[in-house]
Amino acid sequence: MRLALIGYGNIATSLLGILAEQGLVLDRLDILARPGAEDRAKDKLSASASTLGGGLHVHGSVEALIDGKPDLVVEVATHDAVRENLLQCLEAGIDGVLVSVGALADGETEAALHDAAKTGGAQLRIVPGAVGGIDMLAAARLSGGLEVTYISRKPPRAWQGTPAEQKLNLAALETAEVFYEGSAREAARDYPKNANVAATIALAGAGFEATRVKMIADPQAPGNIHEYTVRSNALDFSIRLEGKPSPDNPKTSLSTVYSVAREILNAAGPVAI
Ligand SMILES: NC(=O)c1ccc[n+]([C@@H]2O[C@H](COP(=O)([O-])OP(=O)(O)OC[C@H]3O[C@@H](n4cnc5c(N)ncnc54)[C@H](O)[C@@H]3O)[C@@H](O)[C@H]2O)c1
Repeated sequence: MRLALIGYGNIATSLLGILAEQGLVLDRLDILARPGAEDRAKDKLSASASTLGGGLHVHGSVEALIDGKPDLVVEVATHDAVRENLLQCLEAGIDGVLVSVGALADGETEAALHDAAKTGGAQLRIVPGAVGGIDMLAAARLSGGLEVTYISRKPPRAWQGTPAEQKLNLAALETAEVFYEGSAREAARDYPKNANVAATIALAGAGFEATRVKMIADPQAPGNIHEYTVRSNALDFSIRLEGKPSPDNPKTSLSTVYSVAREILNAAGPVAI
């Protein structure tokens, strides 16, 4: 497989390590860095990349990345990179994996990616990332009658730097408080750091307007907890996921990196599950 990554941050670094541990052998590995940051990206990724084979080709432009003719490009960067770079890859006919899913809360970006994939004859795959049960949610959507409520529960310190600060005295909180209730669209707009999971659940299920979101600051929460309940004509279910931080990098939840690794291993192997 010829694999390309857009981005070279926390997820990219942990991801290459996991793929190497899993014994994946690549024919070629291309990385898109920000222009001028090519050497930094090489330094960060060369150790894991050497185990994967195929050589490490780091580029400062998406055109050069596309020239490497990757089979699959995985975006692990930012919302801007989705609009600027992943879109071009899809137009060029390269299948893409989207990790910055919150970018799709912007209707124009969602439509542009859809059109780019159609024009290029490529497929855009949306990775479940930090959340699970997305297979059954997307299946339940087909049965109709869908009602979905997503609850994001985090310790108060995790909500610092968000509009929650204007609603609660986070430092003094002693019991769990719901500080936000609204649509997934508004949630993704007003709380962009929390947007990926809300957007993934909305896209798989009832859409951005109909998906209800609650946000809770909970001093007893052991970490970032994602819960959602689904009612549909085919089944009802509830799921609760408590991610663990990566030991090397507490900002990266391990579940997201393993979810991206699964997507790549499924694309590279003879059987997908
Ligand atoms: N779907 C999910 O559940 C989920 C969970 C966690 C994180 N994420 C998303 O994944 C993305 C990556 O997360 P991370 O923790 O690795 O972030 P990070 O900040 O550690 O790394 C991002 C990297 O992308 C690079 N970058 C930014 N714009 C670029 C561009 N235009 N071209 C090339 N490189 C560019 C940055 O320089 C940085 O190296 C973020 O958007 C984050 O929101 C999604």
